[in-house]
Amino acid sequence: MQKLPKKNVIVGLDIGTSKVVAVVGEIGEEGQVNVIGVGECASVGLRKGTIVDIENTAKSVEKAVEKAEQMSGVNIDSAFVGITGPHIASLNNRGVVAVASHDREISAEDATRVLQAAKVIALPADRKIIHVLPRQYIVDGYDGIVDPVGMSGSRLEVETNIVTGAGTSIQNTIKSVTRAGIQVEALVFNALASAEAALVPAEKELGALLVDIGGGTTELALYEQGSLWFASVIPIGGDHVTSDLAVGLRTPIMEAEKIKKKYGCVLQALMPDDDYIEVPNVGGNEVRRVSRKLLASIIEPRMQEIFSLVKSELKRCGYKGVLPGGVVLTGGSALMDGLVQLAGSEMNMPVRVGMPCNVGGMADIVNSPAYATALGILTYGSRNVAFLQAAPTADPLFGGLLSRFFSWFKEIF
Ligand SMILES: Nc1ncnc2c1ncn2[C@@H]1O[C@H](COP(=O)(O)OP(=O)(O)OP(=O)(O)O)[C@@H](O)[C@H]1O
Ligand SMILES: [Mg+2]
Repeated sequence: MQKLPKKNVIVGLDIGTSKVVAVVGEIGEEGQVNVIGVGECASVGLRKGTIVDIENTAKSVEKAVEKAEQMSGVNIDSAFVGITGPHIASLNNRGVVAVASHDREISAEDATRVLQAAKVIALPADRKIIHVLPRQYIVDGYDGIVDPVGMSGSRLEVETNIVTGAGTSIQNTIKSVTRAGIQVEALVFNALASAEAALVPAEKELGALLVDIGGGTTELALYEQGSLWFASVIPIGGDHVTSDLAVGLRTPIMEAEKIKKKYGCVLQALMPDDDYIEVPNVGGNEVRRVSRKLLASIIEPRMQEIFSLVKSELKRCGYKGVLPGGVVLTGGSALMDGLVQLAGSEMNMPVRVGMPCNVGGMADIVNSPAYATALGILTYGSRNVAFLQAAPTADPLFGGLLSRFFSWFKEIF
């Protein structure tokens, strides 16, 4: 198999509850990413975003990677890997240091030290830091600074958002990937990746909420003034709609899934009274006529529940601002008919479906909100690959590495 020079090629791996996707991207001279291969495989080792079967997850990863290798002609041995699950949490924290040099010019070391200071938080023994994202620097009381290096001042502060996860879930993700023969370059929280792919900078700046509704989870990332303010994962997604339909219509899960995708609508009000479909029963020996309005009457309350949980999360995190950028929906479930209207009325703000942008190539294959996470991981990786090559590490958690590159990350998030 042809082996492209590694510095030009990176791989993103989204290990979801429904599917595992590997995307191969070639980084152009200007830093743009072109997708040159995609591999996908049904996922069997996860429940609600959390890996519960390492062996089967590793097999799904292997298959997805193999397909991506075949399509791209690239031998894959490492990847940036997404992580999700209800164990993910985020908190805002602040760090303060005195500027070290006599001339009071802030150096890269000062920026590193202040981020280290912001990382000093009391975490339960099993929690690990996944991201430390600088929100803004403050020099001698002047806030809103993106990159303090080279400025003059005596007191340097930073406000950060810190994303953490359960150590065991993180280890299980790393184990599943390494068992598939792939080295983990770095872990990326899925909603952060989806936001990287689907939010435009103006939305991040104004304040916007990314809601990625997948199969087993609904992931949230709230942005304000260009960077992450809050992140969380709700353990409910489109698969719950499917099982509601299977129970409500007394049909097998596979049929319920097909029916949901083909005929499902989130709003009863959008369905005419006289539109009927045929639904096989559980035994498969009988077919019944069911109105699409009835389907919608099963789907609607579940989606309402998801958005009421999203609202509870917003309340819980204590965010007091408004979000003029509105809600951007990604994930496979964002394809549901009527979801934009329902989300708009539940959240009382503008809502749109976020198609992945920022990457070129293979637009026909990956042009779906279901690929936002995988493509966002790729974009995220492409922005960080240069320094990872400069400073390779065995530790895929960014805790140690990030500190040297925080000002760079500020540009991204
Ligand atoms: N056209 C469609 N209409 C309705 N639902 C859809 C459609 N296409 C996919 N879905 C649903 O999207 C869900 C899968 O979404 P996605 O691929 O984003 O999940 P995932 O990333 O594997 O899971 P998670 O992020 O929850 O771990 C499934 O519940 C599936 O039924
Ligand atoms: Mg997902």
